[in-house]
Amino acid sequence: MKKLRKAVFPVAGLGTRFLPATKAIPKEMLTVVDRPVIQYVVDEARDAGIEHFIFVTGRNKAVIEDHFDVQFELYNTLAERGKTDELARLQKLQPLPGQTSFTRQQVPLGLGHAVWCARDLVGDEPFALLLPDMIMQSERGCLREMVDLFDETGGNIIAVQECDPAETHKYGIVGRGADVHNGFEVTSMVEKPPRGTAESNLFLNGRYILQPEIFEVLSKHEKGAGNEIQLTDAMLKLQNEQTFYGYHYKGRTFDCGSPEGFVEANVAFALWRSDMNQSMKETIERLSREIKPV
Ligand code: UTP
Repeated sequence: MKKLRKAVFPVAGLGTRFLPATKAIPKEMLTVVDRPVIQYVVDEARDAGIEHFIFVTGRNKAVIEDHFDVQFELYNTLAERGKTDELARLQKLQPLPGQTSFTRQQVPLGLGHAVWCARDLVGDEPFALLLPDMIMQSERGCLREMVDLFDETGGNIIAVQECDPAETHKYGIVGRGADVHNGFEVTSMVEKPPRGTAESNLFLNGRYILQPEIFEVLSKHEKGAGNEIQLTDAMLKLQNEQTFYGYHYKGRTFDCGSPEGFVEANVAFALWRSDMNQSMKETIERLSREIKPV
């Protein structure tokens, strides 16, 4: 079984739910407390043992490449001013030379197409896929838990969480089979099932470990829901030949692609920090008393 070394981050979406914020700034660069959203996801991948970070970018996304580059002037200035803590924090997050790759999805034809754009950079080995919109909060990262399962089972791993049963039509929904190690066998996958038809309330939360044969399926460029090339449809086809396992993540997930999820993430990550927890609680209580909706 080949070792999991690479992760793909599709960051070529238009972010229409977040306009006008995302007119010139990629949504992945919006800040949760003091770090851009994409940094949380890259850190989760690094903590899970990932060694190479592949970004599928689009127009207006060059700033993401800059964010993961060395900023000589800034580093030198921090060193000269004796700001050693700040410098050490930045250097800890800095990918090593050659650890990042960038390719462009020239037209945003859907998540499946964005993943397919990474085919040559991934090559013939399994890879992790992390949707940067979704950031997670737990002691042990979601991907790290998935790697534990992958080391036992191989195959393809998808992370799921429970959603409100009335909301299943908004998500990719997964059917649950027999338990395996810290996960279960996946019996079905449907992207946005019509209301009342979902087999469960377990939704795909944006973390995957996939085998490279998915690229062959995606190369057909078949369109699905929303006239986009859907990853879920391709996984469903691959399921005819390979096993998919589910990992039920129990931590918190925030959909930073929507303004509500993004604000919630900011509150949650501020409360999570010991240096901010108390002041945040007081601020939230005070503002809740003072402010009435307009
Ligand atoms: P979303 O559908 O949530 O992102 O895709 P979006 O299209 O940017 O958002 P809205 O709906 O217009 O607000 C999930 C992930 O897949 C990437 C997005 O960047 C996001 O991380 N994606 C989506 C691509 O890279 N390319 C695409 O063609 C579509």
